[in-house]
Amino acid sequence: MKFIAFNVRDDERQYFETWIKENQIEVDLYTDEITPDNLDLVKGYDAVIALQPNEYPKEFFSKFAEFGGKVFSIRNVGVDNIDLEAAAQNNIPVTNVPAYSPNAIAEFSVTLLLQLLRNTEIFEKRMQANDYRWAPYVGKEIHDLTVGILGTGRIGQAAIQIYKGFGAKIVAFDPYHNPELEKEDIYVDSKEELYAKADVISLHMPATKQDEHMIDQDAIALMKDGVYIINTARGSLIDTKALLAALKSGKIAGAGLDTYEYENPIFNHDLRGQKIEDELFNELVSLDNVLVTPHVAFYTQTAVKNMVTVALDSAKSVIETGSAATLVKK
Ligand code: COI
Repeated sequence: MKFIAFNVRDDERQYFETWIKENQIEVDLYTDEITPDNLDLVKGYDAVIALQPNEYPKEFFSKFAEFGGKVFSIRNVGVDNIDLEAAAQNNIPVTNVPAYSPNAIAEFSVTLLLQLLRNTEIFEKRMQANDYRWAPYVGKEIHDLTVGILGTGRIGQAAIQIYKGFGAKIVAFDPYHNPELEKEDIYVDSKEELYAKADVISLHMPATKQDEHMIDQDAIALMKDGVYIINTARGSLIDTKALLAALKSGKIAGAGLDTYEYENPIFNHDLRGQKIEDELFNELVSLDNVLVTPHVAFYTQTAVKNMVTVALDSAKSVIETGSAATLVKK
């Protein structure tokens, strides 16, 4: 059994090395991501262990199958950049890591909201300018707000637990009801109902074609004036132009964004000293009521360890038993 891992970061290496020692399986580590130009590298390997923001190359699965590859295991949860149909046609099982740390993302989403509600960035800027005044930036308390959770999977549930600790009122929408949450009577019947009730809207759903630009001009019009939006899920869920217009008009009081629809050329790249050509992004980050972070909500020690370990375990399991608990269904 022999694996190849792509896009391996320094902070992941210790977990790869521990797993390799414990399992006595060869895993070759590459820092590059999978591109159309390096597909031949996968020849001779049983499993490819990957994590990349960009789309996997179109011909990846046919090439890997042609070389006798057995399983494709990603070290993250989202499968929106994978051609699952091509994987199925080429009989390559795909595994992901569905629960590497729901708390990592939930905690970060709450962090963004706290910073927005208490204007921390504004005070930070003032401090740097020797300006220690308070007004007019009176904060708001989560305790007094109704928080709307869109998506009640593992991350949404973790966020709900945290917000309950703050004493917030919670409303949630998901087409699939979680039986435990059902008992708490927090589900509303539609996104529209949630938009009408929530002071804060926090997104915790996967990116699907159907939900692309779910938060658009029409959705925003249904929201309360002065609503806050938090997105640690996927950039494509929000029509950024519509969001920007609503932030400027004051309809939306603030946005905490750890994802952005055109993030791939920007996030996790060192662009110091370079001009970012994306004007929409530049405008967004220039606003005082917007916090943008570079897709780091997941990025904790617990999450990184689980991402590496579970991906490797899953690949091994598919090869040894033909299946894994983390198999992705098309
Ligand atoms: C995911 O797990 O899908 C994330 O968004 C995290 C990121 C490393 C891709």
